[in-house]
Amino acid sequence: MTLQIRSIEEYHAAYQRAVDHPEEFWAEQAETFQWRKPWSKVLDWNFEGPDINWFVGGKLNITENCLDRHLATRGDQVAILWEANDPEAPNRSFTYRQLHAEVCKAANALKANGIQKGDRVCFYMPMVPELAIGILASARIGAIHSVVFAGFSAHSLSDRIKDSECKMVITSDFNSRGAKYIPVKKVVDEALNMGCDSVKTVLVYQCANEMIPMQSGRDKWWHDEVNPQSAECPATEMDSEDMLFILYTSGSTGKPKGVVHTCGGYMVYTCYSFRNVFQIQDGDMYWCTADIGWITGHSYIVYGPLLAGATSIMFEGVPTYPNAGRFWEICDKHQVTHFYTAPTAIRALQAQGDSWVEKHSLSSIKVLGSVGEPINEEAWRWYHEKIGHSKAPIVDTWWQTETGGILISPLAGITPLKPCYATLPLPGVQPCLTTSEGKEIEGNNVEGLLCMKFPWPSILRTTYGDHERCRQTYFSPIKGMYFTGDGARRDKDGYYRIIGRVDDVINVSGHRLGTAEVENAINQHPGVVESAVVGYPHDIKGQGIYAYVITTDPVSDEDKFRKEVMDVVSKEIGPIAKPDKIQIVSGLPKTRSGKIMRRILRKVAEGDVSNLGDVSTLLNPEVVEEIKTGAA
Ligand code: PRX
Repeated sequence: MTLQIRSIEEYHAAYQRAVDHPEEFWAEQAETFQWRKPWSKVLDWNFEGPDINWFVGGKLNITENCLDRHLATRGDQVAILWEANDPEAPNRSFTYRQLHAEVCKAANALKANGIQKGDRVCFYMPMVPELAIGILASARIGAIHSVVFAGFSAHSLSDRIKDSECKMVITSDFNSRGAKYIPVKKVVDEALNMGCDSVKTVLVYQCANEMIPMQSGRDKWWHDEVNPQSAECPATEMDSEDMLFILYTSGSTGKPKGVVHTCGGYMVYTCYSFRNVFQIQDGDMYWCTADIGWITGHSYIVYGPLLAGATSIMFEGVPTYPNAGRFWEICDKHQVTHFYTAPTAIRALQAQGDSWVEKHSLSSIKVLGSVGEPINEEAWRWYHEKIGHSKAPIVDTWWQTETGGILISPLAGITPLKPCYATLPLPGVQPCLTTSEGKEIEGNNVEGLLCMKFPWPSILRTTYGDHERCRQTYFSPIKGMYFTGDGARRDKDGYYRIIGRVDDVINVSGHRLGTAEVENAINQHPGVVESAVVGYPHDIKGQGIYAYVITTDPVSDEDKFRKEVMDVVSKEIGPIAKPDKIQIVSGLPKTRSGKIMRRILRKVAEGDVSNLGDVSTLLNPEVVEEIKTGAA
């Protein structure tokens, strides 16, 4: 097993060793896995390309390490325990042996349907075990999975399928989420009607007992394809740097990009970070409430926990169904020891009152985790006191889709905590703060752009089909470094506090959205001439979406218009991107070169109009007054 640090002294020693001898440090971690062929060089890299290679020449299959490796010692231990949306529905659980068999069957079904090493397979599925089984099956035969969160629209799905030319889509008939019953396959049909010629097969996992249209020759039932298959499937040998998966994420500009992770480094880092941050022990019940459609689900529901031989709980539903006590009920029911969720969920449940928590004992909880956005102090304290009974440490884990795993976080029970601080980097991670000109800011009690000086094994390798975009987004803003897009503060003790994005990315309930992406969607409304979107502080979501919209004609029924705009955004991107506030304006504040002054729009959205700075140099200073008085 990879290193598990046990004390703060061990942490400091490991940190120093990883700085002084990174190759030696990571080789020690990697040696604990099963490799078909050892690597010839631990690391070969430059950030200019970027061209980053870990465990060069090493051959492996990640699923042998998630599954086969554990059969002798943990074959009968539960690997995945699934809790349905409906609290009355039975659980489903898979031991490591059963999961191995299911993954092999699904892998054989993919092969039987023409999927080969290197092919892309898209997943658009609810949180059912077959999603985890499916992505592992894909990895088993060397296919590249691209999971698209099942809340995205047909449009978004179609863009993602086209970008990576997926050969197969795996989906389900329906999705039960809270009180909603969503026709998932219908969305796939719509997406495929938008010209996804690469897709030859759609595998449909059946969740309900209803007839749905199936296109003959293309659409097949999961049970027909998977059940008859053999439960043995030899794993395909992969190069350490072969692609494992693509996951789309939003940036400042343009369409979402496909972040690429590769086999060897991602395997080593997700297992290492999982074990150290959560301090998992045998017998623990670990539950991450994320959706596998996001990186948190990839790394810390599926890969990290399985690589570490842990038991991972997977939940189909939402925190408030059938009531706001559901999370806590599940914690008691399964004696959850490690609970990992997002600040937005914590705030939403806190707002429902303590009585929902007090009904449950929560006595099994040993460690709490937070991820996805900055956690405010009030939510941190509530989480600590009410859920952790002031005993369980909170690991505030900072990381990104691009980082593959947690980079800055306390190690549970080891790192002294400070509310709202992600605290210290994991050994092997070298953060620094810079000015916007790229000059490193030394010392403590400072603030700057958060960058990384040195690669860690699960850093993104490229953005699918567009390496130049990867270089420009992450490696060229600050020369010689990986630029995170976040601003951070380093306090007197060297602890990091993440302030938030410094680019045009907004973080709504922990979901990343680009302002340009939302603006493009709004502009699809025929009555819209131009729009500008900014984030503003929101009590539950962390950030809300505030849209300024210029219309072609005066709008007589503003409520109706707002609803139409929201519908357009839902249709273009998905309900998560719907603006919270829409203000109709006659113009947008622009510089003489035509650039929208978002700083002003942000201030108005925040309700802070007292100090808008000098607006006299604007092309159209008069609109500022109008925008101020008409704030939504
Ligand atoms: O701004 C940071 C915020 O989420 C961004 C990454 O989003 P995504 O790629 O969707 O991954 C989310 C799950 C890892 C970061 O750039 N973020 C993530 N975790 C934290 C955070 N902000 C503050 N504190 C965190 N713990």
